[in-house]
Amino acid sequence: MIAEAPARTWPHRHLIDVEGMSRGEIERICDLAVDLREARAARRVPPLLEAETIGLAFYEPSTRTRISFELAAKALGATTVDLHLAGSSAVKGESLVDTLRTLERTGVTTLVLRHASAGAPNLAMRETGMRIVNGGDGAHAHPTQALADALTLREALGPLDGRTIAIVGDVAHSRVARSNVHALGALGARVRVAGPPAWVAGFAAWDGVEVATSLVDGLRDADAVMALRVQLERGATLGDEAAAWRLDSGRMELAAPGAPILHPGPTNEGVELTAELANGPRSLIGRQVENGVPIRMAVLALVCGVA
Ligand code: NCD
Repeated sequence: MIAEAPARTWPHRHLIDVEGMSRGEIERICDLAVDLREARAARRVPPLLEAETIGLAFYEPSTRTRISFELAAKALGATTVDLHLAGSSAVKGESLVDTLRTLERTGVTTLVLRHASAGAPNLAMRETGMRIVNGGDGAHAHPTQALADALTLREALGPLDGRTIAIVGDVAHSRVARSNVHALGALGARVRVAGPPAWVAGFAAWDGVEVATSLVDGLRDADAVMALRVQLERGATLGDEAAAWRLDSGRMELAAPGAPILHPGPTNEGVELTAELANGPRSLIGRQVENGVPIRMAVLALVCGVA
C-alpha cells in the first residue's frame, strides 16, 4: 500500500508548524507513521526517498530529533548529509543564509533545520528553493515532536476528543508546548497549561486553552500529563517554584486514575519530575522517542510528495 502511487497529493512543500494544520492532515501523518513503523519493523520500507538528499542543519544541540530525522531519511533510502555545525563554516562567520544556499548548491533537496531564532525556517523557505522541515525554532514551534506526542497519546488513550491533556511547567519558553497546544486542540482534546503564573500567563489569551496556576488545578482530572524541561538557555530561572511543581508518583494521583506522564526529553530528572516517575509504569517517555522515527519518516515522505 505504501509503495503505490500517492492517492492524494500532500499540499505542503514545507513543514514549519502544526498551527493551521487540519485534523485530517494530522491524522494522515499519524496513520502513515503507523504503516511505516510496521514496515520498518518488518524491514520492508520502500525506498521512497532514494531520489532525495536530506540535509540536517542543527544550530542547537539535539539528540532525539537529529538522530530520528537521520534514521527516518535513511530508512526511506535518502542520501543524508549532516552539517556538523562546530566543524562548519558557520564558525568562520558565514551567515545562516549563505550556509543554507551552499547546502542547496551541493544538492540538498530537503533541509531539516533547528535554530535558536524563531522564524529561521521561514527565512530558509524564502531564501532557498529547498523543502524546509522545522526541527525546532526558538520558543516558536517543534512540529514533529508534537506529532510524535499526538500519536503516542492517541495510542495510549484512543481518540482524544474531550480528553484533558495538562502541559505542566515552563510553558512560556517551550516550543514543544506551543506545537502541542495546536496539535492536541486540532484533535479535539481539552488542552490545559499549568505552571507558576510567569510561565503560563501568556496563554490566557489563547482560544480554548485552560490556564492553571496551582498544581492541584493543573492536574485535576487530567487524562494525561506532559512535563517540560525548564528552558534555562531561553532565560528561564529556577526559583523556589521548582520544588512546588516537581512531578512525582504521589502528585500524579491528583490526575485521572492511571493518567500517563509524557516528556519530550531531554529530562532533567529530579528537576521537573522524579526519575522514579520518568522510568515508572505510567511513563510514555520511551514511546515518544520510538514514535519520533516513523513520524519523521511520514513527514519527509509527505513533503517530498512520495506518499
Ligand atoms: C525539545 C526541544 O529541543 O525543543 N527536545 C526535543 O526535541 N525532544 C525539548 C527541550 O529541549 O526541552
